[in-house]
Amino acid sequence: MDPEQQKIIEIIAGAVEQKLAGEGSGHDWWHIVRVRKMAKHIAKSEGANNFVVELAALLHDIADWKFHAGDDTVGPQIARDILEKHSAPAETIGHVCDIIAKMSFKGAGVKTGMKTLEGKVVQDADRLDAIGAIGVARTFAYGGHKNRLMYDPNKQPAMHQSQEEYFESESPTINHFYEKLLLLKDRMNTKAAQELAEGRHQFMEEYLARFLQEWDGKI
Ligand code: NI
Repeated sequence: MDPEQQKIIEIIAGAVEQKLAGEGSGHDWWHIVRVRKMAKHIAKSEGANNFVVELAALLHDIADWKFHAGDDTVGPQIARDILEKHSAPAETIGHVCDIIAKMSFKGAGVKTGMKTLEGKVVQDADRLDAIGAIGVARTFAYGGHKNRLMYDPNKQPAMHQSQEEYFESESPTINHFYEKLLLLKDRMNTKAAQELAEGRHQFMEEYLARFLQEWDGKI
């Protein structure tokens, strides 16, 4: 990557860190740090463009649609403003904003088609951070942020067929594993991510089995 691109990345990293520091729902700066690192790792094995991948990783949660009453146009717009302010090339801005617009999981039955290799890489990195031990921690942090119950044995998980349904769901946190997190392993775009997802998925299965056994006082 040329020094000019590296400079833009570092300046934008600083801006994102300032905006997301102290965010308490699991979409904080350290989530961005992990996604950026993982995205770089996957980009290397897939031969993706690092400049686009790093920028999209840094800006992907700048305004998550879940926090803007379901409005998924806010994130790409804020990302565009930041990229324009720091004189990123127009072509890169278009590509990065398109990736951000398509990043989020919007329900078990809702397809979000990521077109480019760079988009697939960043989406995989973000999804890997939603599963495994970190995924468990982030899911409970998010549930607490939304005042949700950890678990309610009387509420069954639902497979949401629309973005609205998913957005309005008030399911207990444990249901979220069945409604989203356990589905992610089979939705990874790249081989590198598929391999990492296996171990993280297995850990969640073990975690859930143990949680439910303890809930019933069996162990
Ligand atoms: Ni994210």
